[in-house]
Amino acid sequence: MNKELKYLSGFGNEFSSEDPRCPGALPVGQNNPQKCPYGLYAEQLSGTAFTAPRDDNKRTWFYRIKPSVCHGPYDRIKTTKLTHEWNIPEPNPLRWNVFDLPTRQDPPIDFIEGLHTICGAGDSSVRNGIAIHVYLCNASMKNSAVYNADGDFLIVPQLGSLIITTEFGKINFEPNEICVIQQGMKFSVSVLGPSRGYILEVFDNHFQLPNLGPIGANGLAAPRDFLTPVAYYEDREEEFKVYCKYQGELFVSKQNHSPFDVIAWHGNYVPYKYDLNKFMVINSVSFDHCDPSIFTLLTCPSLKPGTAIADFVIFPPRWSVQENTFRPPYYHRNCMSEFMGLIKGRYEAKEDGFQAGGASLHTIMTPHGPDVKCFEGACKAELKPEKIAEGTMAFMFETSLCMNLTSWAAQSNKLDPNYYKCWEGLKKSFNGNLKA
Ligand SMILES: [Fe+2]
Repeated sequence: MNKELKYLSGFGNEFSSEDPRCPGALPVGQNNPQKCPYGLYAEQLSGTAFTAPRDDNKRTWFYRIKPSVCHGPYDRIKTTKLTHEWNIPEPNPLRWNVFDLPTRQDPPIDFIEGLHTICGAGDSSVRNGIAIHVYLCNASMKNSAVYNADGDFLIVPQLGSLIITTEFGKINFEPNEICVIQQGMKFSVSVLGPSRGYILEVFDNHFQLPNLGPIGANGLAAPRDFLTPVAYYEDREEEFKVYCKYQGELFVSKQNHSPFDVIAWHGNYVPYKYDLNKFMVINSVSFDHCDPSIFTLLTCPSLKPGTAIADFVIFPPRWSVQENTFRPPYYHRNCMSEFMGLIKGRYEAKEDGFQAGGASLHTIMTPHGPDVKCFEGACKAELKPEKIAEGTMAFMFETSLCMNLTSWAAQSNKLDPNYYKCWEGLKKSFNGNLKA
């Protein structure tokens, strides 16, 4: 894996970058000169409406060997695993065991073929909704790229490092890092071997850093820790396939040159990665719990104030110090839907059954909380300061929308039919004659 890649630091910045092989490729003082340096084509990628307010406006200018419009016709290709056909409502708590890696070697399975949709809500055609996928692949994409016309991908690898080549440059990342590839950006995924991970897709807005309110100017994810690639181009006149996810279906076209031919670019609509180890955890240091929103790394807001299309929330290693407190997550019912995954380790509220590479879903108003073992242990635990979640990274995709399952997820042999039993042994301890 190439660890020597360079990045630009910051979140939502106005960046500029040019491949050092072509100094001066970026036009100075204007976006669209009559003739671009080096005989390049200028092309704008818009991530928001032209007229979006300045604070939200996102766009990037590319200077490339051939404009993106140079491609053959797009043809629909049949796919059964990547879909927007989520139509199975399921109010039960759900848990999937570890999703299997592909075993087929000839031909092997790349990132595109390895996309499996678990659940979703809303409709990409009206620009409101989300989808949750897993990728299960064992080969790199070869002479092919993909872009997502429907929304943004937040990619959470669980097994295997990835190198993602984008129009902006190359990004490498590994489990415990994430990468966001936004709507319309072409990319190609290389893997070193069998690879598994989770994807949160949002159709509406783009991801933002959450407001910090009384926390102040610092805390949670710091803008400087988000890394965007530097320009890198390849000048290859070979047959390339460019896939397009459009309205939940896959289309493909051919072209006779690499789509990764951007010599220079500038703008604030970019892909980025983030190392989850850099998250500054805020928590209660007296008693009781902060709500899990205190662990929000990125949020995709809806039009309803304070309410997200989707939040990306992580549960890193941290100190637990609250006094006179039941310290594990509390029992609750939520007007939001909660999808959880585990990158590594063991999640404190359910040390058995919830596995790295598996998942759980508690949709709107589905009760959930610690299992029997966790509850009984935590009620008796000595409340000394304790480092919890060491070696663990669980995360949550939380949405205000009501997600339904795809048939692949609902019929999966990974679905644990006994999940509900983890709460069956919670005893009645009530005694009307005893206050405590
Ligand atoms: Fe929850």
